[in-house]
Amino acid sequence: MSSPLKVGSLNLNSRVFQSPLAGVTDRIFRKLVRRYSPNSMIYTEMINATELCHLKKVQQLVDIEQKPIGVQIFDSRYDFIVEAAKKIESQGAQIIDINMGCPVNKITKKGGGSSLLKQPKVAQKIIYEITRIVKIPITVKTRIGWNDSGIDILDFAKMMEDAGAAMLTIHARTRDQGYNGTSHWKWVKKIKENLLIPIIANGNIFSIEDAVKCLEITNADGVMCSRGTLGYPFLVGEIDYFFQTGYCSQIITPYQRLKCAKEHLKELWKYKGNQGIYQGRKHLRWYCQGFPGASELRKKIICIESIEEGYRLLDKGIELCT
Ligand SMILES: Cc1cc2nc3c(=O)[nH]c(=O)nc-3n(C[C@H](O)[C@H](O)[C@H](O)COP(=O)(O)O)c2cc1C
Repeated sequence: MSSPLKVGSLNLNSRVFQSPLAGVTDRIFRKLVRRYSPNSMIYTEMINATELCHLKKVQQLVDIEQKPIGVQIFDSRYDFIVEAAKKIESQGAQIIDINMGCPVNKITKKGGGSSLLKQPKVAQKIIYEITRIVKIPITVKTRIGWNDSGIDILDFAKMMEDAGAAMLTIHARTRDQGYNGTSHWKWVKKIKENLLIPIIANGNIFSIEDAVKCLEITNADGVMCSRGTLGYPFLVGEIDYFFQTGYCSQIITPYQRLKCAKEHLKELWKYKGNQGIYQGRKHLRWYCQGFPGASELRKKIICIESIEEGYRLLDKGIELCT
């Protein structure tokens, strides 16, 4: 797992990925993840391709910085996806990922996200058309199927490869599972056995042990971390460090976690003003774990109205941890 990974024309020096997380992986969160994992591919929040096509100022949605960085888009119409992809490529993204896994009704009803699993020909056309126009690698993030009955992800995955996808990330749950229950890694193993392009395993990777176990079962080419990074932007770096060296990095203490929370809040506030404070509430709740008094603090921290209030509560937590 310490060797580089080739994704189409791109060489990656890390096989650990930070997933796209709507409402989470903004520029500020990505900066924190990047600090601990300089070589990992980090994804933006997913972007609606149609919305992007109608925007004059692309940077309003495609707000990218340090590489390697990937942008994820969703839609069901290939013409919008191709148009959006051209704009994203011109902004310097290194990968464009097509979301074929989102379970949210608002998106599936319009034919995007995981509903593409039920329309493999549409999904294939999207990949076919976009890879003919855009030069950077086009990847797909999907699930193992819509529901338990008749999972046919192997055919679907092969169709994506044949159409030109440079890599697949498999969230090893069905659409019906949402985010519940265990990930069925045996399907990732089967896909890996049947395809030539890199396969990245996703779902239930919360620790180095999870990542190692997942790779033992799936033989995947890498792992993607998701909920394990909420309030813990250290995870991708921890796993990557282990893959590179065979050693575990120093354990992150609640004190360090709260210090990071304070920085996260400060940056959100600097970048987004009051909106940043409101968005920061959920992040702070995720950070406040694992020390006496954490649950009391969480209750208060989700109601903060100002940067001063956030700092005061976090300083109290930091005191409790020292
Ligand atoms: C808050 C949240 C936002 C998410 N946003 C996206 C997204 O924008 N694009 C995407 O492909 N998956 C998204 N996901 C799904 C995750 O990337 C991942 O596939 C899923 O959480 C499974 O991994 P886990 O069990 O390690 O959390 C989101 C998940 C959560 C919890």
